[in-house]
Amino acid sequence: MNKSTNNNFSNINIHASAPGKLTLFGEHFVVYGNSAILAAINKRISVTLSPNKSNSINIKFGRRKLAARFSEIKSSKLIPRSQAFLYPVLNSIASAKEELSGLSGLDVLIESQIPHGEGLGSSAAVCVAIVGALQSLVHKEGKANIFEAASQTERLIHKNSSGADCYASTYGGVLLFGPNFGNKQISIKGKLQFLVCMTGIKHKTQNLVSKVKRMKDKNPSKFSELAERANDICFKAKSAMITGDVYSLGNLLTENHKLLQKLQISHPRLEEYIEICMNSGALGCKLTGAGGGGAVIALLPNQNNSDTLLRIQNKIPNSMLAELDYKGVHLDQSLNSEKKF
Ligand code: PMV
Repeated sequence: MNKSTNNNFSNINIHASAPGKLTLFGEHFVVYGNSAILAAINKRISVTLSPNKSNSINIKFGRRKLAARFSEIKSSKLIPRSQAFLYPVLNSIASAKEELSGLSGLDVLIESQIPHGEGLGSSAAVCVAIVGALQSLVHKEGKANIFEAASQTERLIHKNSSGADCYASTYGGVLLFGPNFGNKQISIKGKLQFLVCMTGIKHKTQNLVSKVKRMKDKNPSKFSELAERANDICFKAKSAMITGDVYSLGNLLTENHKLLQKLQISHPRLEEYIEICMNSGALGCKLTGAGGGGAVIALLPNQNNSDTLLRIQNKIPNSMLAELDYKGVHLDQSLNSEKKF
């Protein structure tokens, strides 16, 4: 971050929020430079920063709390693994310390609508929201800066991250993400309605990424054959979205899931949910994100979808409709009159 002089930190609250995401196509393969399609969704993580005079950083994230002296925040590496949820917050504060030098203390309140560990991008959204809030506090602007700093921070949680989740959370919309092809917004024709069915089986992205890497190292030619097919699916899916061909899109989702089965990152509960969704009239279905648990996404038909929805929700109560988000990270400030902490 640039050094900012003349910062007056008193009397303001900074709010930033960032959306979660669905990986529609290409997870895992994207770690190796292939394409993926992600969609930001209307479930957000919000961060409120309130400068205080107490000389300490007080973080509240759900039921979890941490207080540390401002002068002690050097690096997230000092924090035990059990407090990994704090890495993005502490690391972002440590990186901005020079610019925050006029600050005595800070209350950080984090609130989440994104279920954690279900592959819906909650870690990336925390990184994007905290970085966005801190950049706003030191009057630094621009989504490109937020994406850059947030994706570096996310690599502390999951070191081989492709950066795709942070990209979707920063910019919003539906994105074709590809480190080797450039990142592009896709303009969708018509409406896409996804039902997210959560297994409640939490996954660790880093472990699943390592599992896929072992498989790739053991059998590189099989992996590159699957990666090529996944790339092809991504490009066909992009065309189906542009033309509004939801039936092809549904088939492509299901086809992508078959490749993920071959990577051995599915789970019996995910397979059970996929069968329920397909038997209830979904147009296509797949696991989303790292796998090994987490969630299934089902594309609903545009017409008469309430029957399909009811049939699925009767059997999978822990499911939610996801609307697409086009805002990405959102920042605003207010006077520090009413304290939320
Ligand atoms: O399950 P999530 O939300 O952590 O998504 C992981 C997606 C991967 O492609 C497996 C990893 C990555 O960095 O893109």
